[in-house]
Amino acid sequence: MHAVRSLGTLRNTVCMTAAEPLAPRITLSDGTSIPQLGLGVYKVPAEQTAELVAGAIELGYRHVDTAALYRNEAEVGEGVCASGVPRDELYVTSKVWNDRHGVDETRAAFLDALDASGLDYFDLYLIHWPAPRQDRYVEAWKALIGLREQGLVRSIGVSNFEPHHLQRLVDETGVAPVVDQVELHPWLPQRDVRAAASAMGAAVESWSPLARGRVLEAGSRDREVLSNIAARHDKTPAQVALRWHVQQGLIVIPKSTSLKRVAENADIFDFELTATDMAEIAQLETGERTGRHPDDLG
Ligand SMILES: NC(=O)c1ccc[n+]([C@@H]2O[C@H](COP(=O)([O-])OP(=O)(O)OC[C@H]3O[C@@H](n4cnc5c(N)ncnc54)[C@H](OP(=O)(O)O)[C@@H]3O)[C@@H](O)[C@H]2O)c1
Repeated sequence: MHAVRSLGTLRNTVCMTAAEPLAPRITLSDGTSIPQLGLGVYKVPAEQTAELVAGAIELGYRHVDTAALYRNEAEVGEGVCASGVPRDELYVTSKVWNDRHGVDETRAAFLDALDASGLDYFDLYLIHWPAPRQDRYVEAWKALIGLREQGLVRSIGVSNFEPHHLQRLVDETGVAPVVDQVELHPWLPQRDVRAAASAMGAAVESWSPLARGRVLEAGSRDREVLSNIAARHDKTPAQVALRWHVQQGLIVIPKSTSLKRVAENADIFDFELTATDMAEIAQLETGERTGRHPDDLG
């Protein structure tokens, strides 16, 4: 791994002692395991990323979710190095962007990302979107299969794959992804994707688990329902929303640029939502997405 490039504000974190892991691990179909909670770093400015990642690890996070698109893979690597926690106790995911699908192109994109991160390996590498109009995601998947066979990545998966995209990977390569990372929150519980993923042994990761913060908006019905449940458990609305994910066996990767909220978002493993709570949250389903439908992007 590379040396920390700029100590700056990281100076205080280099020798820190990290807290014990906060989240349980979930076993994936390839026999590896993934911490059920991770820190998402989409839209975290590069100049804040290393310190945020190191700070989250100090709090007990062990999993970070980045992508080539986020332009902070290098800084995620810096934060991981600066944390002082052994690399094999941490879990780093990255993703190939849509403009680099293809057997050779995806392999090259992976090697570029690994180099940028300064890490020796990624734990998980995903195809970010199927981008079906390009129709090159099966070739990208073949590249990922090769990278895993070579030991350059521990596990391989996909993101934003609908059931028919998942099925095509299996039909054409015989290899199922271990993870499908999709937009999932109380508005959009993604039952079809979850059923298809589960049928092939893939775990589901919820991106934008707080609907980009919109389920917490003051004055919204979502906020009111989540606040009422939160009051019953002495928790916050965000903690209730995130607990809804983990209680269903989903992997969850909330993003916050505030270490205070990063800590809040991890304090979800000491309480349990009741069947009534879960039913109330289920009423928030609208089918609304915060992002594009996977068949329409790319
Ligand atoms: N695979 C994909 O296509 C895809 C797409 C989108 C996202 N993702 C991944 O999923 C991660 C999370 O998604 P996201 O960032 O879009 O949305 P999110 O985690 O649902 O919500 C993030 C927003 O909620 C706010 N927030 C977070 N915790 C809060 C709390 N406890 N109280 C109040 N507000 C809070 C954040 O503001 P502050 O930062 O100001 O706290 C931010 O505005 C991303 O970072 C990325 O890793 C993947």
